[in-house]
Amino acid sequence: MKIGSQTHKELFCRSFMESHQNIEPEQLMWPKLDGPELERLRQIPFWEEALNTELEAGAKIDTYLPMITDPLVREAVALMGEEEAAHGRLFQYMIQHYGIDVSGHPPAKLPTNIEQAFIDFGYGECLDAFLGFGLFKIARQSGFLPEPMFTIFDRLLQDETRHIVFFVNWVAYLQASRGREAKLFRGIHSLWHYGKAVQRVLAVIGRSSEQSGNSFSATEASVFLDGFSVEKLISTCLQENARRMSFFDDRLLQPELLPSLAQVALSGIKLVPKRQSENTDKNLSKVENS
Ligand SMILES: [Fe+2]
Ligand SMILES: [Fe+2]
Repeated sequence: MKIGSQTHKELFCRSFMESHQNIEPEQLMWPKLDGPELERLRQIPFWEEALNTELEAGAKIDTYLPMITDPLVREAVALMGEEEAAHGRLFQYMIQHYGIDVSGHPPAKLPTNIEQAFIDFGYGECLDAFLGFGLFKIARQSGFLPEPMFTIFDRLLQDETRHIVFFVNWVAYLQASRGREAKLFRGIHSLWHYGKAVQRVLAVIGRSSEQSGNSFSATEASVFLDGFSVEKLISTCLQENARRMSFFDDRLLQPELLPSLAQVALSGIKLVPKRQSENTDKNLSKVENS
């Protein structure tokens, strides 16, 4: 199947729409939380950021929609907008249901170049989802929150996985229709946008830690961070990315750049202790020979 062809477009749009599952926040199995479990949920510093990200996503998509001329692509992107709006309602419901404190910080204003904003948003989702896959699995294994909460957020993560697969295929389709289908171009284009996405993630981390102050105590974080390492995070992101991507039609493109960079980083990290032990061996043999 040629990337950028009508068959490609049909496949990435139809498979996205056919895999849609409605999320009604009020009908989800929210667990009853009290005591330390409720306190832990309330102290997580990024709920408002998550809510605003979903609301901004919905607004960006709604504004971009009339600019899409292809009816099938427009239908699929409209569905993505509905899903983002449902995610926003899910966070709103959760915040109210569990009495989570939020500052009432409004979502950011829409940028003027809306197609560019939509593309930036898509790459941002690819980065968030890749990191989210690993962090979600580690948090779930640590029992950081009760399992029913993870069951609910797993559905949201499934949607985000569908979004990023749709997005990388749509970008490739758009580029091909504009005569830029070369893989090298796609790689450079992605790298540039991921650079911007990383800056945004760092800004979010900064804002979340400012807002949380001391409330997200070391004890709370230690539940999650017990046995945590960058190597474990990267390898879990890679494993979960491969597992979640395995459910998609293998004729579709999947995000490639981040997993490849993560794989390189992981190989580098794995080399570090070896080098240290090699150096130690060399130093020992020097001592022995002197
Ligand atoms: Fe979302
Ligand atoms: Fe999304």
